Formats: sequence, structure tokens, C-alpha cells
Amino acid sequence: MIHPLEELRDEALREIDFASDEQALEAARVKFLGKSGSISAWGERMKTLSKYEKPIVGKLLNEVRNAVTIALESRAANFRSQEESEALGRIDVSLPGSPHEIGALHPLTQMWQRSIEIFRRMGFALADGPDIDDEWHCFDALNTPPEHPARTEQDTFYLPDGRLLRTHTSTVQIRTMESTPPPIRVISPGAAYRNEEIDSTHAAQFHQIEGLYVDENVSVADLKGALEFFMRELFGSGTEVQFRPHFFPFTEPSLEVYVRSKALKGGEQWIEVAGSGVVHPAVFEQVNKARGDKAYDPEKWSGYAFGLGMDRLAMILFDIPDLRLFAQNDLRFLRQFA
Ligand code: PHE
Repeated sequence: MIHPLEELRDEALREIDFASDEQALEAARVKFLGKSGSISAWGERMKTLSKYEKPIVGKLLNEVRNAVTIALESRAANFRSQEESEALGRIDVSLPGSPHEIGALHPLTQMWQRSIEIFRRMGFALADGPDIDDEWHCFDALNTPPEHPARTEQDTFYLPDGRLLRTHTSTVQIRTMESTPPPIRVISPGAAYRNEEIDSTHAAQFHQIEGLYVDENVSVADLKGALEFFMRELFGSGTEVQFRPHFFPFTEPSLEVYVRSKALKGGEQWIEVAGSGVVHPAVFEQVNKARGDKAYDPEKWSGYAFGLGMDRLAMILFDIPDLRLFAQNDLRFLRQFA
């Protein structure tokens, strides 16, 4: 004899099997297992059964419920995986993806990194200053008188408010001494700007590393030693360095730095790569005035400073013939240094 519960179960399983979509499946669930579903109704009916029937029918009811629940779940899983495979079927996994291009460092950045690394070994810390500065930091504090030709609009870019694009990174010498008492040993990499006639060796924006060392008894010999060490680390031990007398308002004596290295292309030629010198006492006096103290007493402290032309150094190191290439963003050029 088949119990009515078993009949209900078979009916439910058939409907679940035939359900053509998720809606039909949900309708079947409600019809049999919903609150007022026909299988659920047997739960109520249990109360009316005799003590003898109750455990038998109870056990059957559980089995039927489980069987129907499992059938509902497996059919629902069927529908889901069918949907997924249909969605996936529309994707062409054999199409090539869009590759990420891996970038590389600009040759000037590489030059900067190498240089900073060498100066760090010599104990120099990094200092920073703004590209837009004022006349005082760029000229007056650096002992450059108002009538100096570098201050004219022919050479310097002025903003309408009287500020300017710094013509050298020497502004950072002043800013560092304003905020920090001696001793000092800093370098400051950055851009500088001049109203230049642009050609293969001149640009309106160029790049320098400024250096400043202030301590007791600093001499030209210290300056020469530091820059010679730097050039040899950069260009190799066969590198020759020459210091030629020059004039800068903010150093005395002042020296231009030339290098020549047989290991490099065109190695016979002396190339100018930096300006340098012993810090002029008038610079210390200007700094003292701005600080309102005597921290940089020229009787006690002395120092050297230099400004290295990064573009020049990179042109020598990488054998680049034209300065303008650095700013043109031509990948055919840049890829050669990747
Ligand atoms: N500021 C100078 C220039 O740009 C270089 C320099 C720096 C010279 C420090 C002496 C000391 O030409």
C-alpha cells in the first residue's frame, strides 16, 4: 500500500523535474513545502494521529521533506550553472588581453639617482626648495647686486608679482642655512630656469644638484676632494678633473669644474660640468641678518658650495648629443635607457 505522503513526494519530484525555469521551480516549492503546502499540511495532521501511527508517519514525513528539499536544491543548482555557462559562452577566452606596459626611469632621473647615491655615501643629506622663489633668495642673499646682468628680464623669467623662476638651485643654500644652524652638509637636486636661446646644449629648463658644506676649517682642498671622488665614482677611475678659476658673486675663490675621461666617447675633450667655490662671507652675513642671529659667524665657519649640471652629466654618461631630447618624450629615445 502506498501512503498518501509517498504519492505527494512522487508528484513533487515530477514537478521539480519538469520545471522549465526558476519561477516554475519556486512555484513547486511553495505548492509542496510552503507554509500552506500540501506536504507541510501533514505536519498539522500529525497531531490527530494515534500514538501508534505518529512515529511511523513522522519518520516518513521527514524522509519525504528531505527528498523534496534535495531535489529542489539540485534543480536550482542546475539552473545556476546553466546560466553561468551561457554567460561564459559569450566570452571569447582566446582573445588576447590588453597587456600592461612596464615603464622605465627617464635618463635624467637615473642620473639623479646615481648622483644622490654617491653623495649619500659622502654624508650629504637631501634639502629642498621651491622652483618659484623671490629675488632675495635667488640674488640678494647670494651677494648678487641689483645691477648684475643675470637679474635682467633677458636672462630671468619673472612673474607679474615680482617673484621669479629660480635661475639656479643655489637658492636652497640660503633656505637651508636660514632654517638650520651649522654644521651643514646637504645636496639639493632640482630644476632651474633661464631665458636662454635654445639649442642642442641650452634649454630654458635645466637641472642641477646643489651642494653645500659648512663646518670649521673647510677649504678648497675639501671641495676638490669631494668633487673628484664624485666624478670618479660616476665616470670611472680613469676620469680627470680640472678646476679653472672663475667668478661667482657668492663664492671666493670660484672654480669651474671640467671633466675628461678616456673611458667615455669623445674622451679627449674637457667638458664643463659644474660651478663651485668657497662660500663668500657676505653670504653668511645675509643669512645672519635673515635669521636675526650670528649662527653663521664668518670668523668661525667656512664652507664650500657647488652646482652640478645634471643634463650635462647625463649627456656625457649616456652619450646624448642633444639636450632637447630630454624634454621631447619621444619613446624611441627614452626606450634606449630602459
Ligand atoms: N649657481 C651656479 C650656477 O648655476 C653654480 C654654483 C653653485 C657656483 C654653487 C658656485 C657655488 O651657475
